[in-house]
Amino acid sequence: MKIQRVLTGITTSGTPHLGNYVGAIRPTVRASRLAEVESFYFLADYHALIKVGDPARVQRSTLEIAATWLACGLDPEKVTFYRQSDIPEIPELTWLLTCVTGKGMLNRAHAYKASVDKNSGAGEDPDAGVTAGLFMYPVLMAADILMFNAHTVPVGRDQVQHIEMARDIAASFNHLYGDHFTLPEAAIEDNVALLPGLDGRKMSKSYDNTIPLFVPRDQLRKLIMGILTDSKAPGEPKAVTGSAVFQLFQAFASAEESAEFAQAFAQGIAWGDAKQRLFERLDQEIAPLRAVYDELIQDPARIEQMLQQGAAKARAIASPFTARLRHAVGLRRLDAGQTPSITASGRKVALPSFKQYREADQRFYFKLVDAQGQLLLQSTGFESPKAAAQSMARIRQEGLACLDDLSAQLSFQAGPETLKSALSQLSAVDAKS
Ligand code: TRP
Repeated sequence: MKIQRVLTGITTSGTPHLGNYVGAIRPTVRASRLAEVESFYFLADYHALIKVGDPARVQRSTLEIAATWLACGLDPEKVTFYRQSDIPEIPELTWLLTCVTGKGMLNRAHAYKASVDKNSGAGEDPDAGVTAGLFMYPVLMAADILMFNAHTVPVGRDQVQHIEMARDIAASFNHLYGDHFTLPEAAIEDNVALLPGLDGRKMSKSYDNTIPLFVPRDQLRKLIMGILTDSKAPGEPKAVTGSAVFQLFQAFASAEESAEFAQAFAQGIAWGDAKQRLFERLDQEIAPLRAVYDELIQDPARIEQMLQQGAAKARAIASPFTARLRHAVGLRRLDAGQTPSITASGRKVALPSFKQYREADQRFYFKLVDAQGQLLLQSTGFESPKAAAQSMARIRQEGLACLDDLSAQLSFQAGPETLKSALSQLSAVDAKS
């Protein structure tokens, strides 16, 4: 059984709301209980500094989010639960990744672009009020993910671009320095990943339309009663599509319950009654969690201790891995050996090489890279390692001659002359051995 590594973080800039719960916390906590996963949950407090300039708020939010995850069933014995800023290797990795990240790619990040577009629209300097922190956000996030070689990252749809960037950054690094990073994939809980807020738009801190997950029961009811609806009178049939009340209900209810609720909509349930049913359904799930939360939030020292233990677990991975990465990029002790590619004066000649590996899609690949790690030839995915190895061995033995034959399995990343010279260097070595 292949262990899947799942990792996710929540920025500690606010109070957890239903959107966070449905989109990230609940699915991730559920997934963490499966035997074949190893999960990493963390409080993204370095990310919080990008948006929040109020230290007390960062601290309070960290406490609230930690208590929330624990109350929602996170087991810190089974998972690795930590605070991002307790792992100094994360900002260190951020720098290594920064140096292989295209600035142009960051220019296209949605959050940064939105700020630029807004400024341009208002006739301001495009970068007015934009910090380098906001610009670098995706790289810090890539470091979070790549540090632990996560396969799967449960996130809201708005974060998918960040995961794609993490993949790109990982691929650039691997390409240059060897296969160190797993290429992560986003996991989105489909129909509920984007929960509507009080005004029907996506529930988000930035729209100020959130329903906090843990407010006292009567306050939860009041908030739900305030959800924006159309002005259809009791008795008039109501549409479920586009209804925030319905979508919120659906995120908590079973398929049967939702079908029943849809029927009530068709039969003209009054909005007040629909909201009452929504409230009851939500509270049914939330009430037991709220009781645990209320207890935990009174005991910050206990939470702090759990976070310290989590940090120790996380650093047991991050610290040796960072040492390996430092070595890979050339941040080395001067009395440590050098790799062939930088040996001067030809005592050891740097050679192209074939590399075989497995991707997150479970298929087997190989590639040919030159002495500097530049990609020359890339295979498609094979069902078995044997099939990949056979194809690779054939190229190694027959050289350029067989490439036409195998072209359906290959993508050429270099011209025929470059390939020819790489393959003949290899066959010269094979002939000697
Ligand atoms: N950017 C994420 C959010 O705002 C939080 C986050 C930071 C994160 N680092 C991460 C999520 C790594 C998943 C993986 O929701």
